[in-house]
Amino acid sequence: QVKAAGRPGSSASTKDFAFAFDIDGVLYKGHEKISGARETLLKIHNQGLRYVFLTNGGGTNEDAKAASLAKRLQLTGHEDVLRDRVILSHTPMRGWDTSIKKDQTVLITGSHPETSRQVAMEYGFERAITPADLIHANHAVYPFAHLKNSLHAPHRPLPDGKRAAPVTDAYSREIASDALKIDKILVWNDPRDWSLDIQVIYDLLVSHQGYLGTLSSKNGNSALPNNGWQQDGQPDLWISNLDLFWKTEYPINRFGTGAFLDALKGVWSAATDGAQLQYNALGKPNKNTYEYAHDRLTYFDASSVQGGKQPLKRVYMIGDNPESDIRGANEFSPADGTEWISILVRTGVWQPTDGEPEPRYKPRVIVNDVVDAIVWAMRNEG
Ligand code: G3P
Ligand code: MG
Repeated sequence: QVKAAGRPGSSASTKDFAFAFDIDGVLYKGHEKISGARETLLKIHNQGLRYVFLTNGGGTNEDAKAASLAKRLQLTGHEDVLRDRVILSHTPMRGWDTSIKKDQTVLITGSHPETSRQVAMEYGFERAITPADLIHANHAVYPFAHLKNSLHAPHRPLPDGKRAAPVTDAYSREIASDALKIDKILVWNDPRDWSLDIQVIYDLLVSHQGYLGTLSSKNGNSALPNNGWQQDGQPDLWISNLDLFWKTEYPINRFGTGAFLDALKGVWSAATDGAQLQYNALGKPNKNTYEYAHDRLTYFDASSVQGGKQPLKRVYMIGDNPESDIRGANEFSPADGTEWISILVRTGVWQPTDGEPEPRYKPRVIVNDVVDAIVWAMRNEG
């Protein structure tokens, strides 16, 4: 059972439409508020309508994101406007099979690795390690140690007494019992040390079955699919945010986690003579993310007076990024027949230019800002 996304308690809405608000570029830009966003949210909330915040941000937990939203939008004292409604890029992992999270060792990378680890443990990942753990366990993993005592200072010993890269012969098939095996790599948000992260992700993707410091004998074998790359039980790679760009107060769009992915793809292609990187994605525009949001909006908390399912007919996705917000909403058609309607605002990533006057993924409507988006949606509801 997912948590309620209407007003907590008995006042949950019976209206058959709801809203999904993107955050960056819709509610604020960096530290700059978007005028009218605060009042719009209060209005929607006070009308008892259902809504969620669907962001590709991550690297923290949902409550911390809600607290930072409250601060930036000056909604301190109105925390119920935000509580239980934030869906981060990696939030759907909360629902992953607990046996995966108990039994597997995952490498987590993100902006603040130690915070990411704590969130991962809160999600149920019992063995979450960070790149910092690896360089502290074995200084030879990475030759450039200048961030070891700053960004990478917080670290923990490897779980179960494992060692990083204990084999001397990388092709050795004699895997030591204390060798570290990684089952999944989770990139949660923008890494701050791309160089280290690309190095250790590469190491794991060329390894034999995810044992750090080994090399797969299948690499580069043209008789195998994908020339043998990532064909030897290497860890699954998950990227929680594909956004190449996002919007802050700076006039030019800033690179997001998708830019890190492009860098990784480029290095991977160069190092493998053109192999395509195999990975899984979460976050907008991924369908699983929209399904998760749709469930949050559709089901009320069983403890509320109505309880159970409250079907929807329309959900308005208000976003600033055609590639994620708009594309995801346009391509999502839930099994219950609800229509997701995309609304693009002009306050964020997308700006009409001479070179590209039309967004690549076309929204139902383009409006100035979140205030006009709600006006348009309410009119559409008659
Ligand atoms: O890092 C966050 C950024 O990629 C986008 O956030 O709220 O616009 O989905 P949002
Ligand atoms: Mg945005």
